[in-house]
Amino acid sequence: MKAKISANKNKTISQIDKRLYSSFIEHLGRAVYHGIYEPEHATADDMGFRQDVMKVIKEMEIPMVRYPGGNFVSGYHWEDGTGDKAKRPHRMELAWSSVETNEVGIDEFQEWAKRVDTEIMMAVNLGTRGPEEAGQVVEYCNAVTDTYYANMRRENGFDKPFAIHTWCLGNEMDGPWQICHKTATEYARTACEAAKIMKWVDDSIELVACGSSHQNMPTFGEWEETVLREAYEHIDYLSMHEYYGNPDDDTAKYLSCSMDMEDFIKKVGAICDKIKEEKKSDKDIYLSFDEWNIWFHSAEQDKKQEKWQIAPPLLEDIYTMEDALAVGCLLNTLIRNADRVKIACLAQLVNVIAPIMTANGGDMWLQTIFYPFMYACRYGRGTSVEVNVESETYAAGERDAIPYVDSSVVYNEERGELTVFAVNRNMDEQMDVSLNLEEFGQFKCVEHMVLNHDDMKATNSLEHPDNVVPHKGSGAAEGVVTLEPHSYNMIRFYN
Ligand code: AHR
Repeated sequence: MKAKISANKNKTISQIDKRLYSSFIEHLGRAVYHGIYEPEHATADDMGFRQDVMKVIKEMEIPMVRYPGGNFVSGYHWEDGTGDKAKRPHRMELAWSSVETNEVGIDEFQEWAKRVDTEIMMAVNLGTRGPEEAGQVVEYCNAVTDTYYANMRRENGFDKPFAIHTWCLGNEMDGPWQICHKTATEYARTACEAAKIMKWVDDSIELVACGSSHQNMPTFGEWEETVLREAYEHIDYLSMHEYYGNPDDDTAKYLSCSMDMEDFIKKVGAICDKIKEEKKSDKDIYLSFDEWNIWFHSAEQDKKQEKWQIAPPLLEDIYTMEDALAVGCLLNTLIRNADRVKIACLAQLVNVIAPIMTANGGDMWLQTIFYPFMYACRYGRGTSVEVNVESETYAAGERDAIPYVDSSVVYNEERGELTVFAVNRNMDEQMDVSLNLEEFGQFKCVEHMVLNHDDMKATNSLEHPDNVVPHKGSGAAEGVVTLEPHSYNMIRFYN
């Protein structure tokens, strides 16, 4: 089959905020303990962080990591994770029915973040706590004043502030599963007052208010409007969360999940514009898609997990080849919407619905979804360029026109680099794609990497970490690139 991808240097969507390629580490399952932190591990550094995991995260060039939750944050006392480790309390952690030892908290996590060259996106507890404590944690992390919480940080050994710029006003407060779930009006009031206090403490920070936990929430739409009407002038971003999956084993339909993501982004963007208009405001509210991924494989086994364990294996989805294709399409969607979506976090990073897996006390290995995410992180920096795909389509689920080829194009003028990301959703046929890259001049193809496997259910594992790994593609000869059937592709050009 033939297809065509056209992009024009002069038709751009937006500069891409590097935070579009962020990720997430929650105190959940084995994400922190045995994931990034394992003092007994052979590779542990002086603070107990696993250096095998740090090395791969650093190489991915992840710009920002959301912390400490997720549902966890809605019952969290951030002070528990500061100061003398010997005095830190063990707590019943109600979001995941586990025991939290508090061996790691913001004191340690900010050091880990420095060591892997990333920023922190910090969430505050607006469940069991409120605006006052939200202001206090901002003071602890960012203030240089001679005041109680800034001095507490100094006493704990950190003279220099942590300088955390991006903050979440709670997590999924629309969800009945949330610790101290709120109605839209209750949340909107709390978030607005927390935002005022947090910005009074540090007016350089940016704030993300909770949108809906997913597109099918019964309060979707009304929730966003209520929050925006109340807090518009005090916030910078509205959050979106969505997880996709293939529980019905319908691959053709599953691979169109990125079209659902696209619809969701457009709907929330339209709500932001509606309230902007209503308020006659000059300010735009941008989107923070701060939880997205595939999540469905682990659902049954998690129901069997015993309660009140320390770092139990939870949400340990093992990803297939088709999941990597879905993630590739979702990343293309985020890139094509870079004018509205400024922040996005692949949820999560290690062991919990994650691209990176570890064995307790043993090796680490990479899941299939690691590869599209890593390529986007590294080569998706610059300007998102409008992309026009001419491709045959197919019907699946409720959609009657799903293009076989899905693509995004990123131009990095500074590096003289142009990258085309493309997924071939066709299970049977290769696609010969003509690349029509207008006004870009003489660009030479320097790399074409392909992720593919004959078996769409193929996975990697500790024993077989290299079952699904990228291989070199045939490149773009005379403006035509061949996309193997059911493949993810990263094609890089230099001038
Ligand atoms: O990422 C896992 C969980 O998914 C988060 O804790 C929560 O915010 C969402 O429901």
